[in-house]
Amino acid sequence: MTKEADVSREIKYQPEKYWDRLWAPGGHVAIVTSVDKEGRVNAASYATAVRIVHNPVQIAFTTSLKGHTRANILETNEFVVNLPSFERKILEAVRVVGLPFDKGVNELEKAGLTELPSQSVKPPRIEECSRHFECEVVWTKEWLGRMMVVGNVLAASVWADCINEKGYLLWDKIKPVAFAGAPYFDTFVAAYETMRAGMPYEGPEVEMGAASNRSYFEDI
Ligand SMILES: Cc1cc2nc3c(=O)[nH]c(=O)nc-3n(C[C@H](O)[C@H](O)[C@H](O)COP(=O)(O)O)c2cc1C
Repeated sequence: MTKEADVSREIKYQPEKYWDRLWAPGGHVAIVTSVDKEGRVNAASYATAVRIVHNPVQIAFTTSLKGHTRANILETNEFVVNLPSFERKILEAVRVVGLPFDKGVNELEKAGLTELPSQSVKPPRIEECSRHFECEVVWTKEWLGRMMVVGNVLAASVWADCINEKGYLLWDKIKPVAFAGAPYFDTFVAAYETMRAGMPYEGPEVEMGAASNRSYFEDI
């Protein structure tokens, strides 16, 4: 039987520039840590890290072709995906880590985050993130000016009070966070909440990041 249309509900087509926002949550917000050949630590924020294979657990994200994360991953074949919670302090740190710092700058220091050594790879974990996935690269592919990275998880750790005895997440404690959609700026979602996170870092990179977003999005 055909259901009668709900005439009280308006359905709107959205302009292309808002399609990304419409898809939220697309995956988990992440800070990806990597190291270069000299072992210098790099960190960058990513809007959409996705678990794409369950067994073995494999994770994917896409990165710009210009960034240090891409260069490091191609050089050393390793990275760690660190997942923040829906808490203001760590989401503000996500914004700092996402600023365009020079090569060789350790973004974790800029954001006041704490490095924890990893068990299986050289890049560190981040203590202030609730979950950490140590990965080796399975494959990368470049297209549309981006590079997709798929990593195989070699070790994974979590704040111990955020899981039950079977390893299931305690959702109210872990507070997963998704990105609300383009631009890469300040808006995150969890369940039905949205939060605009402040920018606790002061430096020329703040305006550089905002200016590149403003060139396309006037409403950030
Ligand atoms: C919330 C947020 C989400 C972001 N998501 C992505 C993303 O999915 N892909 C990407 O290439 N850059 C993303 N960025 C921008 C990078 O973090 C930024 O370009 C960073 O400077 C790259 O660092 P790197 O050069 O050390 O790799 C995001 C930034 C923020 C603040």
